[in-house]
Amino acid sequence: MTFLVQGQELSSVMAAAAIKLPYLLALIFSVLLLLPSVGSIALDTLNNGGNITDGETLVSAGGSFTLGFFSPTGVPTKRYLGIWFTASPADAVCWLANRDTPLNNTSGVLVVTTGGSLRLLDGSGHATWSSNTKDSSATAVAQLLESGNLVVREQSSGSILWQSFDHPSNTLLAGMRFGKKPQTGEEWSLTSWRALNDPATGDYRQVLDTKGLPESVLWQGNVKKYSTGPWNGLWFSGIPEIASYSGRFSVEVVVRPNEIAYVFNATAGAPFSCLVLNVDGVLERRAWDPDKRGWTVWMQSPRGFCDNYGKCGAFGLCNEDDAATQFCGCIDGFSPASPSQWSMRETSGGCRRNVPLECGNGTTTDGFRVLKGVKLPETDNATVDMSATLEQCSVWCLSNCSCVAYAPADIRGSGSGCVMWKDDIVDVRYLEDGQELYVRLAKSELVNEKRSDKAKIVLPVTVSLLALASAGMYLVWICILRGRATPLKFLQGRHPNNHKKMRGFLSASDELGDEDLDLPFVCFGDIVSATNNFSEDNMLGRGGFGKVYKGMMGDHKEVAIKRLGKGSRQGGEEFRNEVVLIAKLQHRNLVRLLGCCIHGDEKLLIYEFLPNKSLDSFIFDSANKKVLDWAARFKIIKGVSRGLLYLHQDSRLTIIHRDLKSSNILLDTDMSPKISDFGMARIFGRNQQEANTNRVVGTYGYMSPEYAMDGAFSVKSDTYSFGVILLEIISGLRITSARFTGFPNLLAYAWSLWQDGKTIDLLDSSLAETCSPTEILRCTHIGLLCVQDNPNSRPLMSSVVFMLENEFTPLSVPKQPVYFSQRYSEAQGTGENTSSSVNNISVTVLEGR
Ligand SMILES: *[C@@H]1O[C@H](CO)[C@@H](O)[C@H](O)[C@H]1NC(C)=O
Ligand SMILES: *[C@@H]1O[C@H](CO)[C@@H](O)[C@H](O)[C@H]1NC(C)=O
Ligand SMILES: *[C@@H]1O[C@H](CO)[C@@H](O)[C@H](O)[C@H]1NC(C)=O
Repeated sequence: MTFLVQGQELSSVMAAAAIKLPYLLALIFSVLLLLPSVGSIALDTLNNGGNITDGETLVSAGGSFTLGFFSPTGVPTKRYLGIWFTASPADAVCWLANRDTPLNNTSGVLVVTTGGSLRLLDGSGHATWSSNTKDSSATAVAQLLESGNLVVREQSSGSILWQSFDHPSNTLLAGMRFGKKPQTGEEWSLTSWRALNDPATGDYRQVLDTKGLPESVLWQGNVKKYSTGPWNGLWFSGIPEIASYSGRFSVEVVVRPNEIAYVFNATAGAPFSCLVLNVDGVLERRAWDPDKRGWTVWMQSPRGFCDNYGKCGAFGLCNEDDAATQFCGCIDGFSPASPSQWSMRETSGGCRRNVPLECGNGTTTDGFRVLKGVKLPETDNATVDMSATLEQCSVWCLSNCSCVAYAPADIRGSGSGCVMWKDDIVDVRYLEDGQELYVRLAKSELVNEKRSDKAKIVLPVTVSLLALASAGMYLVWICILRGRATPLKFLQGRHPNNHKKMRGFLSASDELGDEDLDLPFVCFGDIVSATNNFSEDNMLGRGGFGKVYKGMMGDHKEVAIKRLGKGSRQGGEEFRNEVVLIAKLQHRNLVRLLGCCIHGDEKLLIYEFLPNKSLDSFIFDSANKKVLDWAARFKIIKGVSRGLLYLHQDSRLTIIHRDLKSSNILLDTDMSPKISDFGMARIFGRNQQEANTNRVVGTYGYMSPEYAMDGAFSVKSDTYSFGVILLEIISGLRITSARFTGFPNLLAYAWSLWQDGKTIDLLDSSLAETCSPTEILRCTHIGLLCVQDNPNSRPLMSSVVFMLENEFTPLSVPKQPVYFSQRYSEAQGTGENTSSSVNNISVTVLEGR
């Protein structure tokens, strides 16, 4: 989109137009005459009675913002007066005077009247827009400040008569307010454009709802579409990402008698950034990358199904990871109000309490169950007391029969304040870094939980006592000796205050330079004791990188510790890569890194412990393969696809794993998969599609042709590896060892069966009883699409996830994957070692574990 000034491209005429000739002459004269009044005559100021005509502009002192006339692309006849970010005039109009009353020619002129009003006059002198400043008799000046604010001041006193920051259009700049003045009812809100080339007032409005705790709400006409969730002192409950840029911006919600407002301010060195409500009703935080001369989007909301306001109804609980139930479930202790509607995916009717509360006459037998990791419900009808403690909150809620839930109102420190809900709670969803909500339930509903909790607690306590007697005692002692009261605090799991951990999140444009990484460093002594001095008994496995040990740390927490072998393939760079990358990622299908340690030339990584080892130890093992029936395998396939989609698109970075294989998929207690080993992973910039390396590292069979041959990798090379894993899971055959079938490899074998209409024969015979033929056919089909020779023919992981979740989506027809079959036969013919260098690219082929 480009903007036109008098029919020419804005950027080309801007330099000329920016200089208002009389002012320039005056400036030169005053400099020549050394008059002291230079300050009163500047290119950013319009004096009393002065004017700007179409083609002239005001430019702020540092050049960041420009005020002038423009036309949106393709609509040269409509002229608007606006303020834009000078570096990117085409798509950063931050403020508009006459968005709903465009001029139809270039005869517009902006004047500062003696009363202190700004008036936009058309050719006939008629005002199409006015700032409606209260009349003052003093002379006034208008100035475009470097912040992007156009202010009209009384010249003598300097008091502000009017400012553009009080009249936002669709953009919030640093220093602007977003909220309300409770005393006057005045509001600072954002309104979308009607279309990309039509700035007229659009359908979407973003306002700060101040009835309960402040929350930012998106309206489309009269329909509430989305709420950010209540402000919790650090971020809006539904947008924990806010904490990730707290180093660049101070973000706060100020609550004072005369204003309740969200404000952000940039810290020194922060890139230019703004919040924009776009034409689709999506609020974006954009940051300007001066090197690329383009925008990066740091945050978008709403995002995804669960952000639809109140989608699962009263007491519903939305879970983005649960496509099987169409994302909606009920809070524990509640069931669908109308099971028949619910089964038709009509969930807005919400959920109903299983057992009524028992409360009255000042006594109650009810209690609370804590719901963890959620966005708090809407607080419109809630009662808020900022001075209460959480204990008081609990007591008050119990003592009032209409209270159904409570939570701390402010999570800073150990949490304070009290918000109590009555009647219904709506708009609750699961969320990474979500908060704790205490839900009131009848006594009988809580009994179950207590029992299972006891069962859960008793066992680890005994175990931990044993551990304490041995290694644990030692651990506690050294840490006391070192004066560290809480060693390994990080291992105690996610805490509402772990926002600091997110400080490391960066936009794609950032280097992984010297950011402060909030991953805990663990002392070597702690690791030695946790692993019984790396005893053989604790060893879980070994690979090209070194050895993996099981360890017991902190609160009887089991961890897996990877000790990188000296001189292993995982050198300093890979170690750093894994630490920096995986510490940023949190997804249920990715292994979590809990800490790291560097000690001399020892490098260690500490992960969550997964008792079930890796996928390959099941599907390729004749004894274990029966453990995973088809339903379990299908769940694993979907889980891996979601984890990979998160790496590619849903985290704030685009990450290519580069070494996906079945031995890198670990299994949780409930057999849900977690992708591990990020040593080879690479980050892509926002618009980067592909990269090349002359150090091809990966595992033969899982590497896509373009990567193995030319070192070219992209998200599509991971898609390829995923396809291979998918076919392995179905067939129970290793990609490299399908020779006994009479085919060069698994791909050729799968293709041949597919061609002959015998796909079902691909299935591992141990699955025969549990299988669903249509699912197997469909999965094989998707697998073949993923392993196409041409990367452009392979689907993106977003499509793969969609195709797996939606069984009726039509699939395109795959072509024969020929590349590796041919290479295999050639290699057989010439006796060439397939793992040696190809095209002068050094290829390191790793053994599957
Ligand atoms: C704008 O200013 C010029 C002189 O700078 C003056 O001649 C003209 O009449 C003014 N136009 C309006 C509409 O005030
Ligand atoms: C809040 O109260 C109003 C008025 O009583 C009601 O219309 C609205 O549905 C309530 N909101 C919730 C979430 O219960
Ligand atoms: C119970 O809570 C409701 C709503 O918060 C409030 O209106 C009512 O006065 C409270 N009752 C008592 C006894 O505190």
